[in-house]
Amino acid sequence: MKITVLLASHRSKKNTAQTAEYFLEHLKDGNEIEYVNLLNKKIEICLACDYCRTHYGHCILKDDMESVIQTFHQSDLIILATPLYFNSVTSRFKIFIDRTQILYNAKYKLKDPIFKEKKKVVVIANAGAPHYPGQFEGIMVELKHFFWNINADVIGYYKYNDTDEVMIKDNEAARLELANAGAQIANLQF
Ligand SMILES: Cc1cc2nc3c(=O)[nH]c(=O)nc-3n(C[C@H](O)[C@H](O)[C@H](O)COP(=O)(O)O)c2cc1C
Repeated sequence: MKITVLLASHRSKKNTAQTAEYFLEHLKDGNEIEYVNLLNKKIEICLACDYCRTHYGHCILKDDMESVIQTFHQSDLIILATPLYFNSVTSRFKIFIDRTQILYNAKYKLKDPIFKEKKKVVVIANAGAPHYPGQFEGIMVELKHFFWNINADVIGYYKYNDTDEVMIKDNEAARLELANAGAQIANLQF
């Protein structure tokens, strides 16, 4: 199975990277894993120019976006790992999501979806503060239309709070839950 891991943190080796690694613990053998770290990608802000409304599957901006979409397109499972920023995904991730307007226009305006095959998605989110009501709700609100764009079903949502006090690497329950969740997916037939 081809697995793509999208890392949306603004810090490269902190909780988000750690959660992804624990989740992958039992998935590394026998699967092809590709990391897309948004920190290392040049992805410009959507210009809202509507170019992709008349140019099927293409953006007027020439940067790393089309190759990341290609990576997603070739994946069976996509793992989205993001910190919580102001009750939503990070700004880098939001910029990335906006650029999937190429996919939105192909599917809903030009009536020919680029992502024809179903994808499976796992979402992992870290929040620095201790639990508060609604803490993680914004992430799924933000991602809902993005899932439509990439034709994906969510098969897991793993959320960890208080990461500013207890990092994931020091949170045994989180590490175990992530590793077990990954192991279960390793047994699934895609
Ligand atoms: C700009 C910014 C906004 C944040 N907003 C929230 C928030 O709304 N709720 C929360 O619980 N933590 C918030 N945090 C804390 C991060 O979610 C936390 O530090 C997380 O572990 C960051 O992921 P990382 O360790 O991979 O960098 C925020 C942090 C930053 C820098």
